Amino acid sequence: MKPVWYDCDPGHDDATAIMLAVHCNNICLLGISTVHGNASADNTNANAAHCLYAFGALENVHVFPGAEKPLIRPTRHDPEIHGLDGLGGVEGLPSADSKGVRTRLETNGRLVHAIEGMAKAIRDTWNDGKGSKVTVVSSGPLTNIALFASVYTELLVGIEEFVFMGGGVGVGNRSASAEFNILCDPEAAQIVLDVPVKKTMIPLNVTHTAIVTRDILCELLAPSVLADADVLPKASTTLRNMLSTLIGFFAESYKSTFGFADGPPLHDALTIAYVSQPELFRCKRYRVDVELSGTHTAGETVVDVWEYRCCDDSWGPLGKNCLVAEALNIKGFFKLFLECVDRCDAV
Ligand code: BDR
Ligand code: CA
Repeated sequence: MKPVWYDCDPGHDDATAIMLAVHCNNICLLGISTVHGNASADNTNANAAHCLYAFGALENVHVFPGAEKPLIRPTRHDPEIHGLDGLGGVEGLPSADSKGVRTRLETNGRLVHAIEGMAKAIRDTWNDGKGSKVTVVSSGPLTNIALFASVYTELLVGIEEFVFMGGGVGVGNRSASAEFNILCDPEAAQIVLDVPVKKTMIPLNVTHTAIVTRDILCELLAPSVLADADVLPKASTTLRNMLSTLIGFFAESYKSTFGFADGPPLHDALTIAYVSQPELFRCKRYRVDVELSGTHTAGETVVDVWEYRCCDDSWGPLGKNCLVAEALNIKGFFKLFLECVDRCDAV
């Protein structure tokens, strides 16, 4: 089992990543921390707990609230893509006062900050070298991870790898050249990129290939029903209904904002898929930095594909600091995704 800490800003695609993190059978999810991003920090924190409840894991996995704003820049959210509270249009989440859920949500990690929760999990799991290293995954702005890496430098030895969804190679989505997670907190992203620990970046170029097409949606809704050309099958379970409303809302956002006609990309789910089945990805190591001062390009990830910069073999400020995902086995990814839905359904 791979021990994983997951930092996120749910967010429709973050929610699918939570489902994978709970139900991939080779991942041990140590905890979840939340960060400002798709919606306010309060919203993303409640959303993570609501998702864990819906995926049958709220009892076992705690959610720790993290940074409410970027390190330096003004806060930005993305209601156009995720609705006002970050999980617009999703049916089947518990309401704040559902029986039994309220107390759990109120006490879930409330008193412990994200970076403290992360530190304890890594300290306990690494156990001064007698235990295992932890993979730290991020699918939101990198503020919590940058704070953790700056405050708990002595625990970096207990980290196997940082895996993050963010950036693009020559492509952006929330400006002409910057991707949302990096654009929200470019300084935090640069801090993380300079940490002398292995890193893997899953950029837009790859996440835009993980499209939930109509065929995949049909299989998600009702696996044993033959797809009809005109009418979508009825969801066969509450979980499948929840996931299909989530994908439906996300699909509409991506259609109206970016013109995606075939379905929405499940960006964040790829981070957990990478940890569970790295063989689904082709990656190459580069020097990656973030543009921090460009008038038109702030937040752009600058990937040195032609090796202009002279770099050493370290993962830190002087080295080729990051593996960049370049291709995905799309079929393999959706097979894993649907298997996790089956397992989640069986809980
Ligand atoms: C990223 O931004 C958010 O909209 C998604 O949750 C994802 O993490 C994609 O750019
Ligand atoms: Ca996200």
